[in-house]
Amino acid sequence: MSGQSKGSNYKINIAIDGPAGAGKSTVARMVAKRLGYVYVDTGAMYRAATLRLRELGISPESPSEVLQAAQKMVIELIPGEEGQKVLLDGRDITEEIRSRDVNSNVSRYAQIEGLRSLMVSLQRQMALRKGVVMDGRDIGTTVLPDAEVKVFMTAAAEERARRRYQEMKNPEAITLEQLTRDIAERDRLDAERKISPLRQASDATLLDTTSMTTDEAAEAIVALCEAYGMERSVE
Ligand code: DC
Repeated sequence: MSGQSKGSNYKINIAIDGPAGAGKSTVARMVAKRLGYVYVDTGAMYRAATLRLRELGISPESPSEVLQAAQKMVIELIPGEEGQKVLLDGRDITEEIRSRDVNSNVSRYAQIEGLRSLMVSLQRQMALRKGVVMDGRDIGTTVLPDAEVKVFMTAAAEERARRRYQEMKNPEAITLEQLTRDIAERDRLDAERKISPLRQASDATLLDTTSMTTDEAAEAIVALCEAYGMERSVE
């Protein structure tokens, strides 16, 4: 075996990208739990910033104001038994960042270059010590281009909308058709933006979860990590 010894504290970084509703966060959390890694939900960071910017009445049309406000925010992701808590300046906003208002505005703020650079540098810091499962849109391409395992998770748009609909606490507020349209619009904005658009890294493994359970998807990613470990050990 060459290079770093593959002892029990040898850790890698895992990047999981893909469109909304592909199952990334559930699966990433499961993978992190199985490997004893830290899960980082980068979408929650863009959502937290969006919530605050909406409260402050700052429009995405004013990128310098967005950046100024974002530089003052303290966003924390706290792993816990019942999932991750999201804190903004110490306030628990875990539920609020899933509101429809945040859903329909987050892509517009997430296009702003200054905001993205700020988030990317925070995310890189979180991954410095390895042992991170990070999900988002640009993790394999921009945030962690050297991640040892990269996965691009996707699923048919109708299936993604159906999953999101089932997850909703108050589904009567929106129909499945509206949700499908919202998801398609968000996909379009994420894929067409100039900076770090949603796309599969050339070295990422494509995982289509349309007819997979979350357990099967997590299993497939853990298998990729094991295969990476085995490849290393014969180097
Ligand atoms: O994964 P999510 O639905 O919580 O992400 C919310 C939004 O944040 C999504 O519309 C795209 C954006 N996002 C991004 O641009 N880059 C990331 N790394 C993560 C999310």
